[in-house]
Amino acid sequence: MRVLHVVGARPNFMKLAPTFRALAKRKNVQQVVVHTGQHYDASMSDVFFGELGLNSPDINLRVGSGTHAQQTAQIMERFEPVVQEQRPDLVLVYGDVNSTVAAALVCAKLLVRVGHVEAGLRSRDRSMPEEINRLLTDQISDLLFTPSQDADQNLVREGIPSERIFFVGNVMIDTLVELMPQAEKRVPRGLPARFALVTLHRPSNVDDLVWLQNMLGALEQIGQGLAVLFPLHPRTRKKLSEVAGAASPNGVRFLDPLPYIDFIGLESKASVVITDSGGIQEETTFLGIPCLTVRENTERPITVECGTNTIVGRDTDRLQAAVQHIVAGATPNRRLQSRIPLWDGRAAERIAEVIASL
Ligand code: UD1
Repeated sequence: MRVLHVVGARPNFMKLAPTFRALAKRKNVQQVVVHTGQHYDASMSDVFFGELGLNSPDINLRVGSGTHAQQTAQIMERFEPVVQEQRPDLVLVYGDVNSTVAAALVCAKLLVRVGHVEAGLRSRDRSMPEEINRLLTDQISDLLFTPSQDADQNLVREGIPSERIFFVGNVMIDTLVELMPQAEKRVPRGLPARFALVTLHRPSNVDDLVWLQNMLGALEQIGQGLAVLFPLHPRTRKKLSEVAGAASPNGVRFLDPLPYIDFIGLESKASVVITDSGGIQEETTFLGIPCLTVRENTERPITVECGTNTIVGRDTDRLQAAVQHIVAGATPNRRLQSRIPLWDGRAAERIAEVIASL
């Protein structure tokens, strides 16, 4: 069987690694990795392949940045001949980025079977490009690998036949489980005893410069009580440079994007994580670290149900109050982490089992 994996953006790589390895153990599975080039800076892409023990991609479509339409269209145009030439039996797509939906659409039109890893998540907010990507990808996928049972329910509600849905667990957590021992060794000396770790990159947070300025003000306030470490996504760095006087507010340290292992090391030691990422909501839940999500909703409600994640919305007062509450000692119950079914480091094995049985 020939399996072609399509990845493009940073959060895809941690999901590819365990899946690739689990399939590599199976007899008669040949694998090809296609990188669309959606993320192209070394710090957003190459470094992850190295750390995750992946070889360089077999094929790179080098699409780079653009509007959503440009990026999606270019991936489709460049990916179609690859599928025609490689003739895979199955194409695996990951997560909810533009590369995911573009590749799935090409395959659906060429009648090539598609498997979606991390299917079924819904924020019910169609102003997020990722929600559109999730909805469309799931509708045209043949195998839907879900991380949690709420995802199964969403898919059934949308009319996806249950025999296509496979509740396998969370592949992102597979990678976390595998690399956490290395991450613990790499935690830098001199790290403040208490610190907030911040990541923001969504257009809703960084493209609105008035809001971005407000957020910086809030982080400066938070920085008076505990250190604030803020690795910057390239989009965020660009936008920050447009905000007058935004150069590193007092108590806030801007950092370059961090390699995966360094990042999860910091995440595991943080007093609180402030983010708009999806994957980080999951990682903090697994690690039992309090997470404040600067969005109006989440496609990962299980992280809120577990008590580690709080959706603070676009409300700096709420954010600051929540940080104070956490710092005062009302931290979530770390034991909750083990209660999430199938977040156990073996999700990719279950995916490989399903694929091998086809
Ligand atoms: C994409 C995903 C988002 C995911 C995020 C993780 C979509 C719609 N969005 O958002 O779901 O959470 O990746 O990082 O697919 N840029 C660089 N270098 C790079 C990549 C990007 O400088 O290697 C800059 C460019 O200015 C680019 C901007 O970042 O225009 C945005 O990149 P893009 O891939 O369009 O979306 P992300 O914001 O990274």
